[in-house]
Parts: sequence; structure tokens; C-alpha cells
Amino acid sequence: MVFTGAGVSAESGVPTFRGEDGYWKKYRPEDLATQEAFARNPKLVWEWYDFRRSLLSTKKPNPAHLRIAEWERCFQSVHVVTQNVDGLHQRAGSQKVHCLHGDIWVTQCTACGQSERNLQTPLREIPPRCRCGGIQRPGVVWFGEPLPQDVWRQAEQVCAGAELMFVIGTSAVVYPAAGLPSLAKARGCFVVEINLEPTEFTARTDLFLRGRAGELLGAL
Ligand code: OAD
Repeated sequence: MVFTGAGVSAESGVPTFRGEDGYWKKYRPEDLATQEAFARNPKLVWEWYDFRRSLLSTKKPNPAHLRIAEWERCFQSVHVVTQNVDGLHQRAGSQKVHCLHGDIWVTQCTACGQSERNLQTPLREIPPRCRCGGIQRPGVVWFGEPLPQDVWRQAEQVCAGAELMFVIGTSAVVYPAAGLPSLAKARGCFVVEINLEPTEFTARTDLFLRGRAGELLGAL
């Protein structure tokens, strides 16, 4: 099992959340990533997601994403559980990807609930509208919202059966996702963490590899 966070996409040029140039250093999550923020100002929230989508459309998978995708082709059962919404694991060729925090390329109607894949950058209309006339929201999980239950169940299952887990580029502070490495450890899984710096989880990891994910995974 490979469990990833924003750090795995950093070498693609995608900002993290809590790093030096991280989004949450410049913006407040309460203004951009909650249901309340969206209800108050859907245009502002969509402008931020539109900006991120446009940025992502200029980026590509880095050696970390590519190496992880290669593992899936080399070994019998490799699952990626990610907190990222950027789609870079899928673009690198990973097929078993469980997206705990949703997908920035999906929009969901707040009126009829219909979800659709929308790759338009920049969006022609902000906020985008559904065929039913309702306002669409980004298909991501915001603070205060539950994770998609089916994806969470799959992640727990993968975790419970994992022999080896890589925890890559996550600050391991956003729960429930951040609880997965401890769950795996409790089941006897060997956990390898790759990060630029120690995290909340590092004291419990079996092996900590300090450095950039793309460089380290390329060298493994
Ligand atoms: P963070 O921004 O909190 O953490 C990124 C981690 O990646 C940090 O621990 C960095 O040290 C590490 N890092 C940065 N560059 C790296 C590199 N090249 N190689 C290896 N590690 C690197 O991002 P997440 O842990 O993913 O949720 O954040 C979790 C959640 O908080 C996100 O999914 C998002 C955010 O708010 C929601 O929006 C719900």
C-alpha cells in the first residue's frame, strides 16, 4: 500500500498545503474549503479551484508517481490510497487509486447530486451549472465533511491486509486519513515513511527516509 499526500506532487510543481509556499500559509481553509465558505461565496471558492485546476493542467507526473505506477505492474497487489485530488497518480498509470479526499476534476450538482467529470480549464462559467440548473460544487471533501464511505472502507481493507506500506509526502495531521499508517502498524505491517522532514507519525515508523520523494523512489 502506498499512502500519499501533497508532498508526492511537490516535485511536479504543485503547491502543498502546509509547506513553505503551501496554500494554508496564504489562505484560510475556512474561506475556501468548507461548506459554509461555499454557501457564503461560491464564486470565490470556485475561483480558487479553477486556479488550481488550471495550474494542474500545466503539470505532469514526476518520478515518484511514475515509480509507484511501475510497482503496480511489477508486484501482485499494489494499492494507492491518496489524500490528493490532483489526478497525477492516475495520469502516471496507477490503476488501483483510492481518492480519500475526492477529485478536483469532478463536479457535483448541489441540487440534483449528479456528478460529472469536467476537464475544462479555465471553466467557462463560474460557478459552473448542472443541466438541471443547479450550482455545481467541486467533487472534493471539505473540512467538516465525512469521507466518501465506500472509498474509506476500501482504504481500511487495503490497510488491514497490507504487508508493506509507504507513507509519502504527508504531514499526517488531517484525520481520519492520517490514522491509516497507525492502523496498518497495529496489524503488523512494515511502514516506510518518505518525507522532507519528520512528521507526527515518524516516531512510530519502521524506516524513515528523509528527502524528496521523486529522488528517493527513483533510487530505491
Ligand atoms: P501537507 O501540505 O500538510 O503536507 C505535505 C508534506 O509533504 C509535508 O510533510 C512536507 O514535508 C512533505 N513534502 C513536501 N515536499 C516533499 C517532497 N518533494 N518529497 C517528500 N515529501 C515532501 O499535505 P497533506 O498531508 O497531503 O485536505 O495534507 C492533508 C490534507 O490537508 C489535504 O488532503 C488537504 C489539506 O487541507 C483537504 O483539503 C480536505
